Amino acid sequence: MPTFTPLLDSLGRVHTSLRISVTDRCNIRCFYCMPETVRFLPREEILSFEEIERFVRVLAPLGVNKLRLTGGEPLVRSGLPKLVERLAAIGGIEDIALTTNGILLEENAVALKNAGLQRVNISLDALTEETFRRISRRDGLDRVLAGIHAARAAGFQKIRLNAVAIKGITEAEIVPLARFAREQQMEMRFIEFMPLDADDQWDHDQVLTGEEIRREIESAIGPLVPAPRPDPSQPASDFAYGDGGGVIGFINPVTQPFCHDCNRLRLTAEGKVRNCLFSTVEWDARAVLRGGGSDEDLAELVRDCIWNKKPGHGIDSDQFVKPQRAMYQIGG
Ligand code: 5AD
Ligand code: SF4
Repeated sequence: MPTFTPLLDSLGRVHTSLRISVTDRCNIRCFYCMPETVRFLPREEILSFEEIERFVRVLAPLGVNKLRLTGGEPLVRSGLPKLVERLAAIGGIEDIALTTNGILLEENAVALKNAGLQRVNISLDALTEETFRRISRRDGLDRVLAGIHAARAAGFQKIRLNAVAIKGITEAEIVPLARFAREQQMEMRFIEFMPLDADDQWDHDQVLTGEEIRREIESAIGPLVPAPRPDPSQPASDFAYGDGGGVIGFINPVTQPFCHDCNRLRLTAEGKVRNCLFSTVEWDARAVLRGGGSDEDLAELVRDCIWNKKPGHGIDSDQFVKPQRAMYQIGG
């Protein structure tokens, strides 16, 4: 038996959560993530399900117990439930989640649930078709809503709705989104717009802050009280409605960075390992996977990647360097 050494970085953060991007493709074009016209990776560059499975088999004994499948849009990768099934069978993997835009969820929800997927995060930035289209540059709000209902009907443990909040665009959506999530008994999470857009248009002034959103919701719906934080590495600050009507979360990477408790690492669709969304350096796991490297070589590469993790992203510092990749090329 190999000795168990957790994936530690030089600041003592233990890494247990792996986000796996299964494709850079997407069926919509949210401006905060993708360019309008895009050249996707050729198929042979993308890791196969076998390669992803091997990577996870090597990481599970190093303490990785939580997986999240991301994209692009993960459901445009055909046969995704098969990957979920393979990953769920790996010893030590306790939790598998999916982040999706919901467009293809209606037809996939039951298969994903049966394959062993436990949790789903669905992106829902707007409840009006006009704002949805302005952000995603495509139609499809009705498909997303159908996907949300299908996820509920399939019986997932937990369904969260994620909204990226953007000044000048989504103010009017905030309260309706919060009300909708309350009615559906789902957790709504508002995410501050981060500089990961492909078009390089991000500007500090477009960040609708978690604080602003919370105040808006409190004045329209009612008081919010801080909720317990069972997992210190969770990015969201959760609040409960004073009337017991559910929980709402705020992910404030810009105004309240949570890097100090980060336990996450990322695998891109073409097999690069990243220790941060904002990394400017990557470690090439595909070269090891396809070059005849051993499991120990792979483990060593990941250890090295984690060890070199920076303290934080420094979005607000003068030295901030925007990563070369946009969100769809990293995986959220
Ligand atoms: N800033 C904040 N959140 C983003 N997402 C994608 N791009 C950005 C960005 N620039 C979100 C998506 C989805 C998840 C994958 O990440 O809306 O919820
Ligand atoms: Fe697609 Fe998600 Fe990027 Fe929107 S945020 S373009 S849904 S990958």
